[in-house]
Amino acid sequence: MKSIRTIGVPAALGIAALTAAGCGDSSEPAADNIRVGVVYYDQSDTFLGALTEALREDLAEYKTESRNITMMLRTSEGSQDTQNEQVSELIEAGCNVLCINLVDRSLPSDIIDMASQEELPIIFFNREPVAEDMELWEKTYYVGADARQSGQMQGELAAETILNKDADRNHDGVIQYVVLEGEAGHQDAIVRTESSVETIENEGIVLEKLSYQMANWNRAQAQNRVEQLEAQFTGKIELILANNDDMALGAVDAYEKLNYTENTWPLIFGVDGTDAGLAALQEGKIDGTVYNDKEGQAAAIARLAVAAVTGEGMDEISFDQYHSIYIPYFKITEE
Ligand code: GAL
Ligand code: CA
Repeated sequence: MKSIRTIGVPAALGIAALTAAGCGDSSEPAADNIRVGVVYYDQSDTFLGALTEALREDLAEYKTESRNITMMLRTSEGSQDTQNEQVSELIEAGCNVLCINLVDRSLPSDIIDMASQEELPIIFFNREPVAEDMELWEKTYYVGADARQSGQMQGELAAETILNKDADRNHDGVIQYVVLEGEAGHQDAIVRTESSVETIENEGIVLEKLSYQMANWNRAQAQNRVEQLEAQFTGKIELILANNDDMALGAVDAYEKLNYTENTWPLIFGVDGTDAGLAALQEGKIDGTVYNDKEGQAAAIARLAVAAVTGEGMDEISFDQYHSIYIPYFKITEE
């Protein structure tokens, strides 16, 4: 598209020189030495830790004899102000492209301002800015996944298991459930919960919500919430829908601590397919998860980052909507 429009330098300088414009103190042309600034919201996040490691490997594959690529990684410890400062430092350090996992997805404008002033492409990932913000600077992109799809798949897995296993422990014809929610305001929390519940109900299963608890994608917080819930609802919970695997594993931790066994604790479903999540699935500790394709997302980010800096291959990248790429999820069961 219009990916290399008005940059205000004579066209004769060529793409390499153009893209080097405004990249702090970098002396080499950007296309020969690409510095990729990567920032994610919090170091404790399992899924993003793994995604950014995959990204590091993918970027290395774009190195050639004449082109070096370095990735500079920062984590923002849950503070948008910290992240804004980190982005400013990465720009100072000569980054040619920014890959940003926002702390607060409603507050990308400072970062967009800084990047657009320096004509730097930004690839937001995993925490999606709203459409109006995406349009503030034309070299703004997003790579993520469709939250609704993950909820639907989790719901399908849960419905199938409920219908095949004796999930209705108290035989009242209703499945008593709780939700472990990711984070207030996160697209993957709200939408996953809604669509998971809706999908189960569409299969003709009657649900009763006992509680939903925010556990910030975090295993220890989820464990804590589930211990409290069991103190309140002793043995009544038949199903736990967790917005991610870490929280599903936190539920398992709680039941192990309370001396339940796999057969007596509720059905538990997660999302992500992290290494620990897959291991728990294999051991029968959780009942299903939906693979959040971190390899696919990392590959798309790497490709877009290199194309956005060099201008090469941009035409071949297809977007699902405006400048956004959504990588499909897929279901994983023990089988
Ligand atoms: C979700 C993922 C969670 C967490 C969150 C962070 O897509 O399922 O585990 O990483 O992103 O934004
Ligand atoms: Ca029941």
